[in-house]
Amino acid sequence: MSRTPPSRPLLPSEPTTGPHIGMIWAQARNGVIGAAGTMPWHVPEDMARFRNLTHGSPVIMGRKTWDSLPERFRPLPGRTNIVITRDDATSRELAEESAVPASSLEEAVELAKARAESAHRVWIMGGGAIYAEAVEKEIAGLASVTRFDLEVDGDTYAPVLEPQQWELAAAEPASGWSISESGIGYRFETYQRI
Ligand SMILES: NC(=O)c1ccc[n+]([C@@H]2O[C@H](COP(=O)([O-])OP(=O)(O)OC[C@H]3O[C@@H](n4cnc5c(N)ncnc54)[C@H](OP(=O)(O)O)[C@@H]3O)[C@@H](O)[C@H]2O)c1
Repeated sequence: MSRTPPSRPLLPSEPTTGPHIGMIWAQARNGVIGAAGTMPWHVPEDMARFRNLTHGSPVIMGRKTWDSLPERFRPLPGRTNIVITRDDATSRELAEESAVPASSLEEAVELAKARAESAHRVWIMGGGAIYAEAVEKEIAGLASVTRFDLEVDGDTYAPVLEPQQWELAAAEPASGWSISESGIGYRFETYQRI
């Protein structure tokens, strides 16, 4: 069966066969990505970007990120939702909610690749524990990061992308910030693993 061409361009460094593993998150200037099980901001432009990039692709998340999604919005539509948990009872509940349970990040990636169909990318969408493991194990080759011109209190942090291992491939705007309708400054950055 032939694969349909990717709907969005790959980075120049990426091989044309896939799917490829990307991470996607939004962070404040101080690295905060979450507070008390939720995200401490509301930026519609970032939500739209998340939907545009991930729609049609399998998404992988930790159980706490799944729990953070309002019940009426989960599973996220148009995407196979793969949820990582160590707990068997939770796995059964996830399957009843039409999510795909996985017992490790590696298993989640295999399940996602098997379900990618024509999607050229699989997205790891959090939270902090899963990003940290993905970076440590060098599972992803790309990171799509939204930065907010904001410092907030939180309890969950973005992984550190070491400059020896990751380089900035694209930024929008190239410098400074766009201003959200919420009034918050934001910029979209894409990093690739060297
Ligand atoms: N700003 C953003 O872009 C963004 C994106 C996503 C999430 N968030 C925020 O991040 C926070 C959640 O992140 P978090 O770090 O607390 O939790 P998380 O990474 O979403 O989920 C952690 C859970 O995943 C399971 N897990 C983790 N590693 C595992 C492994 N190696 N094998 C098997 N299961 C594993 C465990 O589930 P069990 O306990 O069920 O075993 C663990 O409790 C929330 O505040 C959320 O709003 C922010």
